[in-house]
Amino acid sequence: MDRACIIGAGSSGIAACQVLQGRGIPFDCFEMGSTIGGNWRYLNDNGMSSAYRSLHINTSKKVMEYASFPMPADYPNYPNHFQIAQYFDNFADHFGLRERITFRTEVTRVEPAAGGWDVTTRHRDTGDRKTTRYRAVLVANGHHWDPRYPEPPFPGTFDGEQTHAHHYRVADPYRGKRVLVLGIGNSAADIAVETAMVSERTFLAMRRGAYVVPKYLFGQPFDRLAKTPLTRLPLWIQRLSVRAMVRVAHGRMTDYGMPKPDHKVLSAHPTVSGDLLNRIGHGDITVKPNIERLDGGKVQFVDGSIESIDAIIYCTGYKISFPFLDDSLISAPDNQIGLYHRVVAPDRPGLYFLALVQPLGATMPIAEAQAHWIADLLDGAAALPPAERMRKEIAGYQRAVSRRYVSSKRHTIEVDFMAYLREIQAERRRGRTRIKPGGGS
Ligand SMILES: Cc1cc2nc3c(=O)[nH]c(=O)nc-3n(C[C@H](O)[C@H](O)[C@H](O)COP(=O)(O)OP(=O)(O)OC[C@H]3O[C@@H](n4cnc5c(N)ncnc54)[C@H](O)[C@@H]3O)c2cc1C
Ligand SMILES: NC(=O)c1ccc[n+]([C@@H]2O[C@H](COP(=O)([O-])OP(=O)(O)OC[C@H]3O[C@@H](n4cnc5c(N)ncnc54)[C@H](OP(=O)(O)O)[C@@H]3O)[C@@H](O)[C@H]2O)c1
Repeated sequence: MDRACIIGAGSSGIAACQVLQGRGIPFDCFEMGSTIGGNWRYLNDNGMSSAYRSLHINTSKKVMEYASFPMPADYPNYPNHFQIAQYFDNFADHFGLRERITFRTEVTRVEPAAGGWDVTTRHRDTGDRKTTRYRAVLVANGHHWDPRYPEPPFPGTFDGEQTHAHHYRVADPYRGKRVLVLGIGNSAADIAVETAMVSERTFLAMRRGAYVVPKYLFGQPFDRLAKTPLTRLPLWIQRLSVRAMVRVAHGRMTDYGMPKPDHKVLSAHPTVSGDLLNRIGHGDITVKPNIERLDGGKVQFVDGSIESIDAIIYCTGYKISFPFLDDSLISAPDNQIGLYHRVVAPDRPGLYFLALVQPLGATMPIAEAQAHWIADLLDGAAALPPAERMRKEIAGYQRAVSRRYVSSKRHTIEVDFMAYLREIQAERRRGRTRIKPGGGS
């Protein structure tokens, strides 16, 4: 009962394993697949990875690396998924984590119990089930594996092939076809660029515009900005600067036939692409507004135009899901979830969530920082404020997000990378002051 349970050995789960091991906090980690890496293990036998064959990171290596383990110096700025998976393998081997993880074992149930949580696991090969009580559960099951299709579905019926970005692997099946990609997030941008190289036509439909951010500016990875003092300046100055840089790099989005964004820069999760606007400019991708209705082998768009389409790829985002937790305990309808500093469930003591954020930056250093805070709480170095205070912080965060971001299910857990890391550090300091002299909170 003195042990903690970590669910998942993706980049967040292994960060937690490393931190808890280093702090001498006993834990078990269960991983559904045969190996570590989660989303970054192409064709992962957990059946949950959304990685496609051509995937590269879009947060550069210096932003993405763990504080405790730099990426190899000979890696490019934007490595591919094979290199990223190798980096996680090296991390696990360097810290001796593999033997601490139970593979091919799914957590099927997490229930509150006296003094902790009962965790039920099922071995995927033997079917063996086991229930063990833990003092704490760290949920690191990822939030980019449960595909969200358009809600409500578009009216009409479609005779062609329909799929979601989650299931997309390579462009070859789209050779010679008329393809419609829906959305203007990073999946849509990457997939449209790729199908455009082999398809007869690729259409990219979007219900609003986006500021497409370059991968490089003046020879430097654009997202290095996320680690500069710019992030300490007021939002309006950050907006002005980023807007000017995007303008220098790409001009106006409307110059390419993209819709004018209906929001300010930094009010939507960034769409990062060095290729999308080129492909549109070359006429390889045709921009369309949203779908109005489906009609057999045709699709009608909201501007009244109609196109014959063979295949639709919905790049419409993901649902936050915890299949092992009863909805009455905690859930995320429409991706809304109330966690103190995005980690702690105020009314569920001992339940913590890792990397349940969409950073303007990478998730790995964030999961690592969150794990250190959770370790403080577990080894008694820090304490939480009363539940009422936590609920107030959550309400403040949710108000700020809804004021700043476009109202969308993809913007419910958005954080600024450096500001959030500073927030966790500040909370760790405050948490230490809540410990009464002589121990206890
Ligand atoms: C296409 C794509 C590209 C991305 N690119 C970037 C990027 O460039 N930079 C960036 O920072 N982020 C990126 N992301 C975000 C991505 O979510 C993170 O990079 C990272 O994968 C999050 O790690 P994680 O460990 O939290 O989740 P995951 O990588 O999803 O890992 C979760 C792990 O938990 C395991 N698991 C789940 N449920 C259970 C269960 N019930 N029992 C046992 N094990 C379980 C899974 O098998 C998996 O191994 C991208 C996401 C997608 C979809
Ligand atoms: N490393 C990489 O290169 C890379 C590649 C792919 C993905 N990713 C990451 O993976 C995560 C998921 O990205 P994603 O692009 O799959 O999803 P996403 O960021 O959630 O984007 C979903 C897109 O679909 C649109 N959409 C949703 N419902 C719609 C509907 N009913 N009709 C029309 N449009 C609809 C959204 O528009 P609204 O904004 O209007 O809701 C948005 O443009 C992100 O963190 C992303 O950065 C990274």
